[in-house]
Amino acid sequence: MSLSRRQLFGLSGGVVAGVALGACGVALTAPGGSTGAVLPSEVPLPKPFTTDLPPLATARTRPLRGGGRKGTLTTRRRGTEILPGRTTEIAGYDGTFPGPLLEATKGEPLHLTLRNELDHPVVNHLHGGVTPPRDDGYPTDLVGPGTSRVYRYPLRQRAATLWYHDHTMDLTGPNVYAGLAGGFVLRDPAEEDLGLPRQERELTLVLTDRSFGEDAQLLYPMTEHGIERRYHGGLLGDCMLVNGAPWPRTDVDAARYRVRVLNACNARRLELALDPGGEIVQVGTDQGLLTRPHRRRSLTLAPAERADVVIDFSAYRVGQQVTLVNRLGDGDMGLVMRFDVARRGKDDSRVPERLSVIDPIDPSRVVRTRDFHLALGKPMPSGHGSHSGGDRSLPMWSINGQPYRPGHDLFTAELGTVERWRITTDVHHPVHAHLVHFQVEQDGAPAWKDTVDVGPASRAEVLVPIEGYRGRYVMHCHNLEHEDRMMMADWSVV
Ligand code: C2O
Ligand code: CU
Repeated sequence: MSLSRRQLFGLSGGVVAGVALGACGVALTAPGGSTGAVLPSEVPLPKPFTTDLPPLATARTRPLRGGGRKGTLTTRRRGTEILPGRTTEIAGYDGTFPGPLLEATKGEPLHLTLRNELDHPVVNHLHGGVTPPRDDGYPTDLVGPGTSRVYRYPLRQRAATLWYHDHTMDLTGPNVYAGLAGGFVLRDPAEEDLGLPRQERELTLVLTDRSFGEDAQLLYPMTEHGIERRYHGGLLGDCMLVNGAPWPRTDVDAARYRVRVLNACNARRLELALDPGGEIVQVGTDQGLLTRPHRRRSLTLAPAERADVVIDFSAYRVGQQVTLVNRLGDGDMGLVMRFDVARRGKDDSRVPERLSVIDPIDPSRVVRTRDFHLALGKPMPSGHGSHSGGDRSLPMWSINGQPYRPGHDLFTAELGTVERWRITTDVHHPVHAHLVHFQVEQDGAPAWKDTVDVGPASRAEVLVPIEGYRGRYVMHCHNLEHEDRMMMADWSVV
């Protein structure tokens, strides 16, 4: 590519932040359990809880001949009000930030046309989807500017809170930051009998941290060689957005709500809790319902992780303010949003003790154990590959010592088998694989995930049924600054 990074995705005027480089300034870990460095906004940020939680835009779909649905998303730039009274230019699906919520039904295919009206290529990926390789959004499977393509999602999988986002080689971080991410709720009519809260008492919250320049534009500190070295461990914003609004508030009934929470931050981990205290009842993970509800005081979500929870606001008085806080954040970043218990409400919802059935995988079915070590690698040898991984004097993030080389499989796995993956780390890495799901043990019961939050210098173990389709997929760290700096690997199902 001969265009500079700035030309490729130029977020109007504000891309290059005026942040001084430290002498060797690579900030790997920030206080509070995130990897990365905070980029301070240059514009005064609003006081928390002075904006209303906006409803998420929803994407309209139409019946598809032969069954299923079809819909279209158009990537475009648009000026939108994020900070009160200011206009921020975003580059998002249908020009919204975050993208419109897509809803689909388990077992009914969705054919999604992506029209790209941006001036740079994009790639769409359905995160958590079980999708054939050609429609999965491989990082170099670009949709050029002014063109469109259809992604066919079979959706033969468990109902779950999925999401979709850009996956462009080297540029996923800036593209998602500019707006290319949205929620995707895959429903199962059979779940309706459970009696969980629904309709106006079902919320989807897309959480993103962002920083703003003087001109109220999004700041993403790119240089010609990739992200500025100070943010090479991850970019942390200092303004918390929920569904695109800074620290919003909303009225709720004194009743149960089902809340699907997506951590769509590039690098920030969140530990969510309620103030003045209270229970968060987790009913689902990345890949759908748990077997039974788990009552918690707090819930940690690394980038790309989702949780499906029920909050019972009847535990509070009418008139009370219940703040969703982030225990890993400092100052205002310790706040997320506020629920104002506005009125009493009739409530016939419930949280049954049996939510779903997950058969635990018998470990004797494991045919292969693989080890993955996610860590800072060595600086790239000169002349490595054809892609532009950024500043070559900086070490690359790596998996098993390898920086990403598209087109070269790190391993192949056999369709229909079960593997055990053991993951070790240097700093925090949320590890995600396309196509497959991870069976983990959570609170003594099996649960399904597609992203696992592996702490610094720790080790995680997951069971991985190799199911779905043959072909080439990726696995990677979902700290997007790590992903863009090569913490990714190809692997194939054979
Ligand atoms: Cu959320 Cu490879 O993606
Ligand atoms: Cu990482």
